[in-house]
Amino acid sequence: MSAPKPRAGSEYVDAQGLLRAERVRADFPLLGREVHGRPLVYLDSAASAQQPRAVLDAIQHYATHLHANVHRGVHALSQEATTAFEGARETVRRFINARSTREIIFTRGTTEAINLVANSWGGGQLRAGDEVLITHLEHHANIVPWQMACAASGARLVAAPLTPSGELDRDGFSALLGPRTRLVAIAHVSNALGTVLPVAELIAQAHARGVPVLLDGAQAIPHQVVDVRELDCDFYAFSGHKVYGPTGIGVLYGRESLLAAMPPWQGGGDMILTVSIERSTYNELPYKFEAGTPNISGAIGLAAALDYLELLGRERVAAHEQRLLDEATRRLAEFPGLSLIGTAADKAAVISFTLAGIHPHDIGTILDREGIAIRTGHHCAMPVMTWYGLAATARASFGCYNTSADIDRLVAGLARVREVFA
Ligand SMILES: Cc1ncc(COP(=O)(O)O)c(C=O)c1O
Repeated sequence: MSAPKPRAGSEYVDAQGLLRAERVRADFPLLGREVHGRPLVYLDSAASAQQPRAVLDAIQHYATHLHANVHRGVHALSQEATTAFEGARETVRRFINARSTREIIFTRGTTEAINLVANSWGGGQLRAGDEVLITHLEHHANIVPWQMACAASGARLVAAPLTPSGELDRDGFSALLGPRTRLVAIAHVSNALGTVLPVAELIAQAHARGVPVLLDGAQAIPHQVVDVRELDCDFYAFSGHKVYGPTGIGVLYGRESLLAAMPPWQGGGDMILTVSIERSTYNELPYKFEAGTPNISGAIGLAAALDYLELLGRERVAAHEQRLLDEATRRLAEFPGLSLIGTAADKAAVISFTLAGIHPHDIGTILDREGIAIRTGHHCAMPVMTWYGLAATARASFGCYNTSADIDRLVAGLARVREVFA
């Protein structure tokens, strides 16, 4: 018994072939609520995107009709749960165009996916004197695991510099990619600045030296088509909750030849073939890396989210978000005293900014009273804040359900912030 699928996507497209965001909004029950007596404007999708009814229904359906442990049972429920869980893995495979479901490992999120690689690959491969190359715009999830892996192995973590607009300094990157580099681990899209990195070129450059590349795709996967075969990346990590799915589920894609050679990083049920008191033999991919009962309903919810994005059309969503980004950038740039932080030529729908003389937390708090949810702080990317000499920024981020009316409310909210601090 499978969950009801959403209907065909034509209702989401207007006469010009553009996304009908007003129609999309109607699929997201939470967006109908009020905050502080005002209709909610949700501009924090880069932290966690809201979930469409299709995702909520899929999770509810699993819990109501299929719930049982996977992989172990002979009874019908366990087999149906296993079919749904493995079906979700196939949906993920198709979504990112991996060669095989053996390359799709379910994790708790991007953070756990990167920790898996840092522990398992890093534990086996890194030696004293080696270098792991990241950039100055990484999320802490793509910094701290490498610091830990370097501390354990004696390797060194090096970070490529940025340009003033928040792009990767390509010469700086090339200068650091050297004979000691054992891995390049970089964001596909920066969560703090919105910068889209030229990852295909960076991967080609690293591969020319025989260096594998991990991409932190947490912010890319909701905004653009990701094809791991076309990118030719070695690892790709992302989180369900940033792509309209639930929290507590994410994915590590790994090239099969690399994963096959990596040791398990957590031990327990499901990741073994045999266990005696003396020793164990390990399961095949991907189960070798999935110790313990997985987040079954999370995987099913994630698959429903990916199906939903396909229904809207990923290119159509990306084009819609680019229009919002362009409009918001133009309007915020005109706002008195506002500075945009991160003005790369290629950006995803994330805008960081500061307002002269007003702390970002005050901006966020006043906007919240107006029913507008944005994020303020260091965005778990303290090195990029330091790079800009800032402690914090305010950040508005857009998803498939945002509209120009949300930008109107943001600009009006910022005018209110100015009034309060006048
Ligand atoms: C670029 C980037 N990487 C990693 C993460 C961590 O994701 P999670 O907390 O879902 O593991 C985030 C979350 O904000 C992110 O934006």
